[in-house]
Amino acid sequence: MGPWPVDQRGPLVEQIAPLYWIMFAAAMVVFAIVAGALIYSGIRFRERPGHVAQQFHGHNLLELIWTVVPTLMVISFSILSWNKLNLVNDVSGAAMTIQVEARQWSWSYTYPDQDIFRLADGSPLKAGTLDIPVGQKIKLDLTSKDVIHSFFAPNMGGKKDAVPGHTNEMWIQADRPGTYVSHCTEFCGDGHADMLITIVVHPQTEYAAWAKTAVTDANRANSPETKAGRDAFLASACVGCHTVAGTAASGKVGPELTHIASKPNIAGVLSPVNEENLTKWVSNAPSIKPGIVMPKFQGVLSDQQIHDIVQWLLTLK
Ligand code: CUA
Repeated sequence: MGPWPVDQRGPLVEQIAPLYWIMFAAAMVVFAIVAGALIYSGIRFRERPGHVAQQFHGHNLLELIWTVVPTLMVISFSILSWNKLNLVNDVSGAAMTIQVEARQWSWSYTYPDQDIFRLADGSPLKAGTLDIPVGQKIKLDLTSKDVIHSFFAPNMGGKKDAVPGHTNEMWIQADRPGTYVSHCTEFCGDGHADMLITIVVHPQTEYAAWAKTAVTDANRANSPETKAGRDAFLASACVGCHTVAGTAASGKVGPELTHIASKPNIAGVLSPVNEENLTKWVSNAPSIKPGIVMPKFQGVLSDQQIHDIVQWLLTLK
């Protein structure tokens, strides 16, 4: 799905898209007339042997036309746009409010302080993707940590700036589930081009299940055993063979583990990638895949260390 308003997936964009098309069509007509007139007069009235270039300075009719027509166009567009502003800015009646914080160069979304989003430490869920239920009006409170960014949800309508020290409100609503991509639309430095926006729209019945998984993952990522597991991994022989992006582990002998928790299986032989299978694998890989380079870690690392490492690996999605 392309991130532009032609692919309409919500009630707001359905109101905005016709305006887009009217202005686009008008711009095309103006372009054709201006470019056509330019080319025509350039050829027709040019200076050539036996013909002096014609002068039009002070041509009242022409000047009247190219002043009055654009003025009328701008006024009409303003009225048409102004008519939609109430709808665009009407954030009342939203099913929930999500805090959106921009920074160079990523977006973070903090979900409402409700039971389904509450983490073990009592704080609300914070994530890097915007997950919303289908068919519900969602209010977004936009702000920024550093410079001005702009949040754009073309398939659902709406674009607003995320300004430091200030909160801008907007709303979105999607009529069909799916994953919608977009992009920061205010130049904000080197990483502007990579500042993607991902909006995942879940079917109504699956939203609570998504929230549960997201909360479980966040709790796991925040837990002391995950931090202990990361430290244990980085202090052990693991780093000699495996790479995990964003850490000091950069070994090339074994497979990269940066997204191990999202893989369909472990080393092609153990599926799915879950706590039980990872524990088996880390403890004694050769017993599962004879001849493999990866040694047995049972007895080398303590059971607690293996447990912690597995907890950390499960967060690598
Ligand atoms: Cu943030 Cu461009």
